[in-house]
Amino acid sequence: MIRPQSTLRFASPYTTHDPILRLIGNTPLVAYPGIADGRVQCKLESANPTGSMKDRVALGILLEAVAANGNVHTVVEASSGNTAGAVALVANRLGLRCHLTCPETTSPHKIGYMRAFGATVHRCPAVDSSHPDHYRAAARRLADTLDAFLINQYENQGNPTVHARWTGPELWAQMDGQLTHLVCAMGTGGLMSGTARYVKEAAAEAGRSVRTVGVDAVASNIANSFYGAPPVPYETAVEGLGKNEKLSTMWFDAIDEIRRVEDATAFTQARAAARDHGLLIGPSAGAALHVALQVHQEDPSACIGVIICDGGDQYFDTLFADTSDA
Ligand SMILES: Cc1ncc(COP(=O)(O)O)c(C=O)c1O
Repeated sequence: MIRPQSTLRFASPYTTHDPILRLIGNTPLVAYPGIADGRVQCKLESANPTGSMKDRVALGILLEAVAANGNVHTVVEASSGNTAGAVALVANRLGLRCHLTCPETTSPHKIGYMRAFGATVHRCPAVDSSHPDHYRAAARRLADTLDAFLINQYENQGNPTVHARWTGPELWAQMDGQLTHLVCAMGTGGLMSGTARYVKEAAAEAGRSVRTVGVDAVASNIANSFYGAPPVPYETAVEGLGKNEKLSTMWFDAIDEIRRVEDATAFTQARAAARDHGLLIGPSAGAALHVALQVHQEDPSACIGVIICDGGDQYFDTLFADTSDA
């Protein structure tokens, strides 16, 4: 029976005395109830204040930006997902003005987080990324106009670095040196890359190894870039999962393998985790959990850490929309 230290207190490398920002990190590690011997451990990043691991990225990047340049007054980011709420919260607590651009298709739930913390939301047309009105281009223009700090999670090496300095060491400490496999969903690749780099280094120091397994959508090009396969049109209903191309925030040298998961499988796994085991997870976490369970089946002695990027409560209207009431 694997019994990691689920409640270990881990000292964040990003020091803050703000009582709200101190809620970020130290997320619980729980054994997946479907695997009796505790060999699939879920790290619940949904326990962060805005419900995802992006709180860590926003805090790490913005604390460093402010420390490097005391004149930072405004922050801009482009995000239709969890990063937006995270940046809105951290900017609020650091006393920075915050402008967020997103496509007009962004869910009301995500926009709710942005508005709740006082960010200014700029809704852009849902156009191709090469179009000048695309929300990422709009963010660049806005940052210039406002003389603001642009986070740019798609290129900022701070994104994976925060996970290498924080999420990775925290997981490694909680797993008490027993981790043999890491499984993470990939979008920008920041979470996977940073966490993977750290746990590989820590394992090597201990004379062991950890196998790192990234998770991509089927109609996506992270795995295709990794394996040198031709690109396909990018389209997935799983928020946060997959990308159209390789980004510089994807540190492929720290990744051993990338598996693809069908959208329907990701949704089914997330529903099953809630219905059968009371674990409310988002669809990208469903995809990662599916791969973790595959790895467990292939190697029952593996001790797997799987990162739950966010919780299912953000997706009640899509994940559980078709389950009947009666
Ligand atoms: C729900 C969810 N899952 C997975 C990811 C992918 O994380 P990363 O961008 O660090 O690869 C994201 C990123 O936004 C996300 O919001």
